[in-house]
This record gives sequence, C-alpha cells and structure tokens, in this order.
Amino acid sequence: MAQMRAALYDRYGPPEVLYEGSLPRPAAGPGQVLVRVHATSVNGGELYGRAGRVKAVTGLVGGRGFPKRLGIDLAGEVAALGADVTGLTVGQPVWGVSRAMNTAAEYAAIDANRLAPLPPELTYAQAAALAGVGTTAVTALRDEARLRPGERLLVRGGAGGVGSIVVQLARAEGAHVTALAGASTLDLVRELGAHECVDYRTAAPPDLGRFDVVVDTVGTDLRAWRRLLAPGGRMVAVSFDLDRAASSLGYLAASAVHGPRRVRFFSGNPRRADLDRLAALVARGAVRPVVDRIFPLSQIAAAHRALEDGGVRGKIVVEIQPVRP
Ligand SMILES: NC(=O)c1ccc[n+]([C@@H]2O[C@H](COP(=O)([O-])OP(=O)(O)OC[C@H]3O[C@@H](n4cnc5c(N)ncnc54)[C@H](OP(=O)(O)O)[C@@H]3O)[C@@H](O)[C@H]2O)c1
Repeated sequence: MAQMRAALYDRYGPPEVLYEGSLPRPAAGPGQVLVRVHATSVNGGELYGRAGRVKAVTGLVGGRGFPKRLGIDLAGEVAALGADVTGLTVGQPVWGVSRAMNTAAEYAAIDANRLAPLPPELTYAQAAALAGVGTTAVTALRDEARLRPGERLLVRGGAGGVGSIVVQLARAEGAHVTALAGASTLDLVRELGAHECVDYRTAAPPDLGRFDVVVDTVGTDLRAWRRLLAPGGRMVAVSFDLDRAASSLGYLAASAVHGPRRVRFFSGNPRRADLDRLAALVARGAVRPVVDRIFPLSQIAAAHRALEDGGVRGKIVVEIQPVRP
C-alpha cells in the first residue's frame, strides 16, 4: 500500500511529542475527495488536544488509540474523486476545513461539502492560514453576534488566528473595534483596523467601557467580560476556560437565562457555503490572511512550540508540498 508523510504523536505531551511519520495513503470514500495537501496551519485548539487537555474531544475526533493525527485546515489539489462527487475536477486547487484531524499529511480524504475552489487571490499557504479561523470569525460576527455598522465591538485575542480575522471583518462591517492583544502584537491589530488596541496583561475590564458585541477567543472569566455589554449587547465565546471547564461550561449554559444577552458558544462546522462567503470577503478586500511563519512538515514540533510560546502574529502555517510562489 502506498505510504505518505503525516504529522503524528504517540502520547499526549509538549510539542516535542510530535514527529513526521508514515501512514498508508487514504482513499476517497463515497462523497469524499482525496486532496494532495500543500499547506495546513496550527490552530489554538490543536495545542490543547496534543497536550491531553481535552481527551474526550480528541478521542471523539481522532479515535481512542495512538498514534494520533493533526490538522484542520487544508489547501491543495484534488487528487481523486470518490463516488457521487460532482462539481470538482482532478488537479483543481481547493481549500477546506476538516472535522477529522487529518490534514497535516501529504494526502487527506475529506467530505466534498467541506471543500471549495481555492480563491484566486490566495496562495496555498494563505488559504491554509484562513480557512478555519476565517469561517469561525464570519460565523461569530455575522450569524451569532449579528454585528451592525456603528456598533462597538471588543475582541479578546485580537492578534491570534481567529481574532486577527474578527478585527478585519468587524472594521469592514463598520464597527468601532477595540482589540485586546499582547504588547508585542498591538501594532498588528492596529494595522488590521482596530481603533483601540489594549495590552491584555495590563487591561482591567471595567476601564474599557461598554460594548454592543464582545467576541472572546480566550474563554477565561467570561462573567467579567459579559458585564461590559451595553443594553441589547451580545457576547460570543469561541473558547472556554479549560482549567475550570465545568464552571465555565456551566456559566455558558446558565447564561441562557439572560435571553438575548446570553453568552453564545458554537462549535464550528464549516461547509462549502461558508468557505464561499469567506472567499467573497477576500475578493472585495475586506479580509486578508495573516501569516506569521511557515514551517515544513518535518518541523511540526517547532510549529506547535512557536504558537505555544505566544506572541504569534496571526497564523503559523505548515507546508506539506513546496508552496507555489
Ligand atoms: N468554537 C469554535 O468553533 C472554534 C473555532 C476556532 C477556534 N476556537 C478556539 O478559539 C481559541 C483561539 O483559537 P486561535 O486559533 O485563534 O488561537 P491563537 O491563534 O493561539 O490565538 C489566541 C490569542 O489570544 C491571545 N491571548 C492569550 N491570553 C489572552 C488574554 N488573557 N487576553 C487577551 N488575549 C489573550 C494570544 O496572545 P499572546 O500569544 O500574545 O499571548 C493569542 O494572540 C482556541 O481555544 C480554539 O480552540 C474555537
């Protein structure tokens, strides 16, 4: 059976548990597409999975045993089509978001409805940096918060993967944007369009004022941030506090008593239509990918270490095949 290179780990632990190993090349099942992957990226949630902090979720997505795999975003070319797949052709450049943790590899089999044609404006590396976080940002702002022009928005984690797209999209939608970020990335969030940029290590929530929308990509102390909502305000949490998971999830559920001012949490489930919505925003210049660094697959441990060390500007990309200029 043909083999392929893939990022793997045999036990939960620090980034150094990761290595480039070998696996049988998958085949496209019915309704699936086999993609020859050029690039993927490291997402914040994958660090928790690898560290064993969300074992139930990691087991559900990647199976109970080891070795386990990595990778949510993907950009590459169609290598083969499974039965019943229409609308895509072999060799076509595509991008997508997998729910199977399998894109940090030379080939990935992915449901056809989670892929879309690669936007012509994007390289493979840029597309891999944008697919997951971009669809998350669009869902958070448009579907969950229903952000309107002129509203005041606060984003926690403004220079991170999700946050760097939330800042751009909110600005493009005509909101007044306040972004919390680390001191070394405040210049980036300003450049991305934030009107106010505040160092999260020195910020005190009550000093920041009132907001119509709060988007929280950090998840800690949701109560304190929800208190900043103006009447009619909406809070969207894309993360929750893993160190206090029970009370954090309990708070999310209990906040439903606040009706419209509850804290909304969602688990991204991007489909082709979401990727196409994002592509349209890229085409009109409302959103651009933010790539901090590109690592080869062989340095997957260093890629995770870089995100874990903090201060990343946007996204860490992992290149599988040489990325086209
Ligand atoms: N619900 C969903 O569908 C969904 C989808 C995507 C992601 N997520 C979750 O969203 C979270 C963020 O993901 P990501 O990929 O954007 O991660 P990321 O790229 O690591 O970004 C996190 C950002 O938060 C900043 N930060 C850390 N502590 C902070 C604090 N106390 N206050 C303000 N900012 C702080 C970090 O800055 P420094 O590095 O400078 O500390 C970093 O820029 C993860 O928990 C992920 O699992 C959920």
